[in-house]
Amino acid sequence: MSSTAVVSIDQTEGFKNKVHCTEYLVNGELKTWKGNTSEVYSNIYTENSKGEAGPTLLGSIPDMETEAALEALNAAEKAFNRGQGVWPTMKVKDRLKCLSTFAEKMKAHREEVVELLMWEIAKNKADSYKEFDRTVDYIYDTIEAYKKLDRKSAKFDKQSGIHAHIRRGPLGVVLCLGPYNYPLNETFCLLIPAIIMGNTAIFKPAKHGVLLITPLLKAFHESFPPGVVNIVFGRGRKIASPIMETGQIDVLALIGHSSSAVALQDLHPNKNRLRLVLGLEAKNPGIILPDADLDLTIKECISGTLSYNGQRCTALKMLFVHESIVDEFNRRFAKAVDALSYGLPWDEGAFLTPLPEPNKPAYIQDLIKDAQAKGAKVLNKKGGQLSHNYSYPAVLYPVNNAMDVYHEEQFGPVIPILSYKDINEPLDVMAASEYGQQVSLFGRDIRKIGPLVDVLSNLVCRVNLNSACQRGPDVYPFTGRKNSAVSTLSVFDALRSFSIRTFVAAKDNPYNNEILDALMDSKDSNFVNTEYLL
Ligand code: G3H
Repeated sequence: MSSTAVVSIDQTEGFKNKVHCTEYLVNGELKTWKGNTSEVYSNIYTENSKGEAGPTLLGSIPDMETEAALEALNAAEKAFNRGQGVWPTMKVKDRLKCLSTFAEKMKAHREEVVELLMWEIAKNKADSYKEFDRTVDYIYDTIEAYKKLDRKSAKFDKQSGIHAHIRRGPLGVVLCLGPYNYPLNETFCLLIPAIIMGNTAIFKPAKHGVLLITPLLKAFHESFPPGVVNIVFGRGRKIASPIMETGQIDVLALIGHSSSAVALQDLHPNKNRLRLVLGLEAKNPGIILPDADLDLTIKECISGTLSYNGQRCTALKMLFVHESIVDEFNRRFAKAVDALSYGLPWDEGAFLTPLPEPNKPAYIQDLIKDAQAKGAKVLNKKGGQLSHNYSYPAVLYPVNNAMDVYHEEQFGPVIPILSYKDINEPLDVMAASEYGQQVSLFGRDIRKIGPLVDVLSNLVCRVNLNSACQRGPDVYPFTGRKNSAVSTLSVFDALRSFSIRTFVAAKDNPYNNEILDALMDSKDSNFVNTEYLL
């Protein structure tokens, strides 16, 4: 293994458009933060005036104190106002207008956000644009999904002599925390359905991928009534923890690591009040059957293991290859990994890019060394080559359960391969795993695939046939078993996850029917109405 850089990919010009954000959004006001701030650096190195290379300063954000976090919580509670607030009682069509206004305003910031995505989290240009565009589409799709849901509720049911008008209502105040790998998309996949359903929210951006939220502060401010969306910056222990300790949070919406989710839940004094919408870690396996089409399989395994350098919860994190084809698979796969293009996020065609977390290359190296010490080899020539911000993807074989990489969600560029003789071997590993998000199954013989799909679909929540694991298209349900998720996200399912069924019921008699008729003809209730949204 070389200790030199794979290739010098840094540049001498720094980040020109530094973002020094001193604003935060609370109670409909863009307030100025006068306290401490934290500098935000990119792990993409540039040279300073003395010619010394180091992390690039991108800007700064408020390092907010607990008092400001509690101010945001109060604003969200006030906007919900025990369900009597303007927002939770607003007509659906008016809430949807606010969302469309926001989406229109957001579109104007596409270039700024994409540039920050590339610098802050080193996501390549194509994927950064994709993340932005996918998020805007998600907002419009959510609006359409809610209209559909609302149309289905624009009616009375009658059962056993009782009229019922059933809708989905908001849950209350949501604390929303997203991950660094999709700092825009995955955060908005929580925030947008949460607020569209009439909840109010406090949102704290992730540590990496925080500046890219700042161009959108004004759009949030101009699009929603006071207190509906509150955006604060700073450390989790000063912001999220004290908010949870108050017991006033109704929904913890978090995409990230289960250790954070568990720690935050533990702080909440009213466990049964707290609803959870969580997207957590996974160890998705690829299972390669003896008759798999190897060209297709290798292509999908490259994208599955190494898109965004493997920093995706849906990434393929271990490959099980049948012993009859493992040598050929390994030879061709290792060659394909070494042929991947590596560069800065904005370089045309760069597939692999620097790692945004400063300690990640060392962590990946530790996984490689641990596996080597326990009998694995690095199969590809460039595997493990190290620079200050990258460890070239290492294909490790044979991996076994004594190795750390077998157990840990590596969330980075290292690919453990195991061979198997009997299909029960990978199935046993999956059954014993703490995770259960997705699997990729590669093969052709339907007599083998058929029964396997039946078993796999009971171990995970998505079986990808001859295809890499992924979350999208966003209309499909995204969830997981065991420690991988709580609740389901998708354009439609997220609306359910952030709401509860609630209804008005009345015994069928002339007295009640006259009241219900009058209510429907009047504008006195936004809940009891049969308005049909086009
Ligand atoms: O980090 C987990 C993401 O939800 C993965 O989404 O499959 O679209 O990359 P993706």
